[in-house]
Amino acid sequence: MSEDREVKIACKGISKTFHVPGQKKLLHVLNAVSLEVYKNEFLVILGPGQSGKTVLLNCIAGLIEPTQGSILINNKPITGPGPDRGMVFQRYALFPWKTVLQNVAFGLTIRGVPLKQRMEVARHYIDLVGLQGFEKSYPAELSGGMKQRVGIARAYASDPDILLMDEPFGALDAQTRYAMEKELRLIWEKEKRTVCFVTNNIEEAIYLGDRVVIMSALPGRIKTEHNITIPVPRAYTHPDFLTLRKQISEDTDLVL
Ligand SMILES: Nc1ncnc2c1ncn2[C@@H]1O[C@H](COP(=O)(O)OP(=O)(O)O)[C@@H](O)[C@H]1O
Ligand SMILES: [Mg+2]
Repeated sequence: MSEDREVKIACKGISKTFHVPGQKKLLHVLNAVSLEVYKNEFLVILGPGQSGKTVLLNCIAGLIEPTQGSILINNKPITGPGPDRGMVFQRYALFPWKTVLQNVAFGLTIRGVPLKQRMEVARHYIDLVGLQGFEKSYPAELSGGMKQRVGIARAYASDPDILLMDEPFGALDAQTRYAMEKELRLIWEKEKRTVCFVTNNIEEAIYLGDRVVIMSALPGRIKTEHNITIPVPRAYTHPDFLTLRKQISEDTDLVL
């Protein structure tokens, strides 16, 4: 097996139920989800709202414990969050009182990395996401796309093996979203990591993913998956792109 087919994350029969206040019935949010994510793969998890995408990602992050099943990273069961996993959220989750540089360096600061080194690392990732010149800006001075670049740089700066992204471009306007998808794919080509990217957007999934896993809702489960072999950078008008988009939208409850 080549190095790139090493299994990085293995979800084995994950189920998650919640108690709903005032109701006797349990809410079955995830039902027997089994999934392997390979090292340095760009995996997209695509599904409608309520299909448990965020819950699944938070289980992988170690923030939520599954009711049943286990999650292994590098063949070891996870016991909680760890520095091997970096998160990028839809809501930017930046510190408004910190500059771009301080936000990106934050994870390194709490890990006690010396000042000179953390500035070097933070600047490297600020350059990588195209924010050079904005090191001293505050989040309120940035557009949505720029804030999300800070979020991506911050996640990369802690040097995790795994990047978990939960609809990171969901709050952006369409033009900025396209630009950010392109950037993210380029960044990942330059510095590969194992990515789990969650979205409810079919085009975004096909544009970004090496593989797209499709979930259905209530209870959330994996319905099907597609390997995407369209050459990158992908054109939204590529015939294979259009065929796959049609197929996925017919197979799912998702609207384009
Ligand atoms: N802590 C929680 N307590 C109760 N229900 C929850 C909790 N977290 C998520 N849910 C429920 O789980 C379902 C799936 O949620 P989510 O993972 O956010 O879906 P998605 O991200 O696919 O839209 C939703 O119906 C939501 O209300
Ligand atoms: Mg969600």
